[in-house]
Amino acid sequence: MKNMKIINKSELTPEKIEQVKKYVPKRYEDAWLENAPEKVKEWLEKDGREKRSLFIYGKCGTGKTYIVFGIKKNLLLLEDRDFTIWNSTKLASIFRDESMTKSEYDRNYTLENLLKTTDRLIIDDFCAEKYSEFLEECFYRIMNDRWESTAPMMITSNFSLKEISDRIGDRIASRIAGMCDIIELTGEDKRLV
Ligand SMILES: Nc1ncnc2c1ncn2[C@@H]1O[C@H](COP(=O)(O)OP(=O)(O)O)[C@@H](O)[C@H]1O
Ligand SMILES: [Mg+2]
Repeated sequence: MKNMKIINKSELTPEKIEQVKKYVPKRYEDAWLENAPEKVKEWLEKDGREKRSLFIYGKCGTGKTYIVFGIKKNLLLLEDRDFTIWNSTKLASIFRDESMTKSEYDRNYTLENLLKTTDRLIIDDFCAEKYSEFLEECFYRIMNDRWESTAPMMITSNFSLKEISDRIGDRIASRIAGMCDIIELTGEDKRLV
């Protein structure tokens, strides 16, 4: 992910604010990067960083999904190009469906292949899905391809890399560790305060 300017809501017209809200779920309509934790903003804005990918982890309610939808809105404003934030559980169910319904011919046109090459990959809540060897392989292939092609990505999770390694395997955890700068979010569950 390239470094980006963080747009403040105060710079925008009410029309622009309304327009960009439509691209995110209702609950995150008011997610603005200006309210994100300082260390996240610093990383996003930083010029010439060594690693271009980011792994954000922290307990439930620490603001991970807020950040990714804030990023989505910010990028929409900067580049006017829509893209999907992939919830990991949803991805898992699509991978399963595709493996059952795609014919041999269609196999090239899977979501998995798309995610290997897209220039913008953001996966939210990684490892929330129930473990299976099949899913481990899917996620491994995606991350390994991106690792090999040095394509950037952003991943959030309730789990640390150590926990991810225990849950889904150290091959995936080590790819993430190799590619990503790591930010831990701490603090109370914002849903409860
Ligand atoms: N920086 C923030 N400013 C204001 N509200 C926030 C912020 N971060 C999170 N929230 C709110 O707190 C709640 C939990 O945040 P969320 O991003 O869903 O947590 P997580 O994805 O880490 O479980 C949401 O309702 C969200 O809108
Ligand atoms: Mg979340």
